[in-house]
Amino acid sequence: MSGKLRLAVFVSGGGTNLQSIIDSCHQESYPAEIAVVVSNKSKAYGLQRAEQAGIPTEIVAHKDFNSRQEHETEIIRRLEKHSVDLVVLAGYMRVVTDVLLKRFFNHARKLPGVINIHPADTRAYQGAHGYEYAMGQLEQHPERLAQTKITVHFVDSGVDTGPIVRQVPVPIEAGDTLDDLRARGLKVEHQLYPEVIRLYAEGRLMLNDNVVTIIVGAV
Ligand code: GAR
Repeated sequence: MSGKLRLAVFVSGGGTNLQSIIDSCHQESYPAEIAVVVSNKSKAYGLQRAEQAGIPTEIVAHKDFNSRQEHETEIIRRLEKHSVDLVVLAGYMRVVTDVLLKRFFNHARKLPGVINIHPADTRAYQGAHGYEYAMGQLEQHPERLAQTKITVHFVDSGVDTGPIVRQVPVPIEAGDTLDDLRARGLKVEHQLYPEVIRLYAEGRLMLNDNVVTIIVGAV
């Protein structure tokens, strides 16, 4: 083994965040590697990105199971052979349960073992369609914001309620379309997620009373 943090990246769709992590892992000095890519959708383009990069894939369709817990139990069974240290949700459009969270809790580091990226401030908006929310395009949220905040957070058993690791604001300009904002936001996502994975791998993250501290300097 290389001593690098071994990731399982979970995707349901296009996988541009997965691609940014693949690209980061290609740098020799990057402290993590992708052990496996998991999808609940057999047609997810992210699976093709993984195959192109020579990364093993596991497809576990949620439709084949009666409950989220049974679905995750099968995912865990499939992951055993890949020696995974951290689960990285990257456009994985399923709510996860304690079954997955408990299995991957990192007891040595006293840190959750599942992280997620979200295109909005998780304190203000949870769930799918974060860019539409920020643009004021959801029926329940008709107000357009001045900015969105890309958020990486630890996953807990709520929907986008876990402790925030890092947030980066992305301005919404006059005249922006949804596609403009998404393109600008994804650029930030693709930088931020590999950075946070690096912080985790280097042992720079601490969690106390649900608040994340980032250790700067020697660890
Ligand atoms: C990303 O914008 C990610 O933040 C979002 O899905 C997109 C996946 O894109 N995730 C969520 O909304 C989670 N609540 P990708 O498949 O191209 O990485």
